This record gives sequence, structure tokens and C-alpha cells, in this order.
Amino acid sequence: MEETKKKNGFASGIGFIFAAAGSAVGLGNLWAFPYKTSQGGGAVFVLLYILCVLFIGVVTMLCEIYIGKRAQANPISAYKKAHKNLGFIGLVSIIIPFIITVYYSVLGGYTVKYTVNSFAGNAGILASFSNSKWQVILFTTIFIALALLIVMGGVKAGIEKASKILMPALFIIMVGVVIFSLCLGEGVSDGLKYYLKPDFKAVVHDDNWGKTILAAMGQAFFSLSLGMGAMLTYGSYTDNKVNLVKSTAMICIFDTLIALLSGLAIFPAVFHYTATEGVSQAELGMQGPGLLFATLPRIFENMGIAGKIVSFFFFAMVVIAAVTSVISLMEVVTQFVIQKFKLNRKIAIGIVSAIAFALSIPVGISLGSAFNNGTTLFIFGVDLLTLLDTITNTVLMPVTAFFACVTVGYIIGGKNAANEI
Ligand code: PHE
Repeated sequence: MEETKKKNGFASGIGFIFAAAGSAVGLGNLWAFPYKTSQGGGAVFVLLYILCVLFIGVVTMLCEIYIGKRAQANPISAYKKAHKNLGFIGLVSIIIPFIITVYYSVLGGYTVKYTVNSFAGNAGILASFSNSKWQVILFTTIFIALALLIVMGGVKAGIEKASKILMPALFIIMVGVVIFSLCLGEGVSDGLKYYLKPDFKAVVHDDNWGKTILAAMGQAFFSLSLGMGAMLTYGSYTDNKVNLVKSTAMICIFDTLIALLSGLAIFPAVFHYTATEGVSQAELGMQGPGLLFATLPRIFENMGIAGKIVSFFFFAMVVIAAVTSVISLMEVVTQFVIQKFKLNRKIAIGIVSAIAFALSIPVGISLGSAFNNGTTLFIFGVDLLTLLDTITNTVLMPVTAFFACVTVGYIIGGKNAANEI
């Protein structure tokens, strides 16, 4: 254990914060948050989401980082250390990031495609791109290869360096896109109203409260990388120099800011284009997983020539944000494989990513079908990506997060934990 720690430990507290923020900020903020908001009726969802982050997310994150730091080991050993019967939660904490890696890589592939295609223009390519299986597989491969490249260097060298530059850059470019979007003119105020002024009646009428709350909670877990072994594993690489409370607060604030900015860029634009260009909300991807990919390219198109450059940098940032997130997902599984099967790091990560890649193929095909009004590879009436996303976010992650809190609150003991933290 000592050796793993030395090899992968974070050099500094700020290094840990950047790496953890790199894990948290990703497609959850940019892709999932606006999409789930549009499904949850707009501002009501945003409000519920913020409440979930404040009252559930912060505590859960603190607990998970603490469990990892305390045990300095993979999730199974960490939970077993707290109580001998809790090993199964550790196992679930490893299965979840594996499942997420599979579908995350498909979406990561989309962002790579949108980056390299920025100069040709991405407006309106969603249907044709998502439908061309070979392209989807190719870009998924590139995305996984990028993650592998960084991971092979170990946590410290790769992630720490990348995140320090990436995070502030992403923030700045997001603010720029938001300002542009807010200046689009007609429709913007309706978009802002939809996004920021809760309409409680709409949710009550649809009798959707339970579903909406669960979705907001799942989104909070997903976006903050909670309810699985990710924060726990990063926590296991920290030492006493790291201030857990301060780090947790900073990660949660930054992650939420990026998510809110993403919505602020997208919704005013959706209402602007439906008002002025005669497209339907559905064509812009509202209420579905295509929202980011259908709406943002239109904003860039509106920026003229400069838009191509902005698009390139924006999507490149999204790719990097997604890579730093997928790295943390793979890291959980890899660390476990290394410690359990005594494999060398490179072989372990190779095996993990090869299996994830194989499984991502049907998921990519299924998602493409969904974007083309098809039902190829659908289960329970939804595409595989949506299915896996729903299972992890709304079932497995809340359960794991619950156990993380119980472990700290009751098994380790709140007082003991508070003293140590
Ligand atoms: N939080 C990441 C995102 O928002 C996804 C993720 C989930 C990463 C769980 C690690 C663990 O994109």
C-alpha cells in the first residue's frame, strides 16, 4: 500500500483539489445537467439540484474522501476496514464506475468528433454522425486512447498537471459562450425565465415530483462523482496535508458553477432559435440526451468565422474535461485490479479499457438509433445509454452514497470522524 501511495499520491493539497475537480467537472455538467434540467421542467429542477448538492452532495463527498483517506486503499478494503460486512458496498463502488466508463466513452467520442469537425461546422450533424456506426466506434476509440495516454503516466503526473490549466480555461471559455448566448436577442428572456424562475405548478400537474427529485439527486451524485469509489480512491491518495472540508467545499462550488453556466449558455439559445428560426424544441434536443450536441453548434454558427475557432476550443476543453473524469472512473477499477490481482499498472488499465471499449460498441449503436427515432438495441423502451445512466444515477449511486454516510456517521462514528477530519 505504502508503495502505491508514494507512486500515486498527490504532491500537494491543491493538486488533490484540482484532480478531484477534474473528476467532478465533465460531461455531467456540460451534457447531463442541461439535458436533465429540460426533462425536469427547467427552473424547478435547477432548484432541486442545488438543494441536493447542498444537503446531500457536500456531506457525501466529505464522507467518501474521508473513508478513502483513512483506509489508504481501494473501496472494497476501505469499506471492509470500517466493517467486515461492508465489502459488498465496496464492490458496488467499483462496478458503478465501470458501467459509467462504458457509456461515458461513447459520449466522449461524440465530443472528440465535434472538436475535429468544428471547422466544417457541427450544426445539424447529430443525426447523421450518430447513425454512422463506424465513425462512432472510431471516435470512441480515440477518446479511450486519450484517456489511456494520460493514465499510463500515473495519477500524479498526468491528472494534476492537466487539471491545473484546464479548469480555469474551461471556466473562462464558458463565460464567453454564456455572454454571447445572452446577447442573442429575441427569446432570451423566455429562456432565462424557463431556466431560473421555478414553475411549481407545472411539476405538480404532471404528478412528477418523485421522479424529478430522484433525477435531481442522481444528477448531483453523478456530477460530483459520488456514490461510488471515485472520490474515495482519490481520497486514498491524500495525506494529512490536505484539508478535507475546504477541498470539498471548493470542488462542490466549482462543479455547480460550471453546470449552471452550461444551462445558462443553452436555454436562452434554445428559446431564441425556436422563436426566430422556426425550429422546434425537439430539433434542438430539448428533453433528450442530444441537447448539448444540437444546440451549442448553432450558437457557434451564429458567431461567424470566429465561431469555428471558439467551437474548436470549447469542444477541445469538453474533451479534456471528459478525459479527466473518465480517468477517475477507470482509476477506481484499475486500482482495484492492481491490488487484487497483483497486476502491473499498465496491464491492468489495458484490460479495463479494452473491456469497456468492447461494451461501448452496442451502447454507441443504441444511442445512434435513439437520435434517429429508431429502437435498435433498446431495452425497456429506452436506448442502452439512457438505461445505464438511469440505473447508475437513480438506483446504485444513491444506495452507495447512503452507505458511505452511514459508514462514517454510525460505524466509524461521527465524533471520531469529525476529530480526524
Ligand atoms: N462527475 C463526472 C462528470 O460530471 C462523471 C463522473 C462520475 C466521474 C463519477 C467520476 C465518477 O462528468
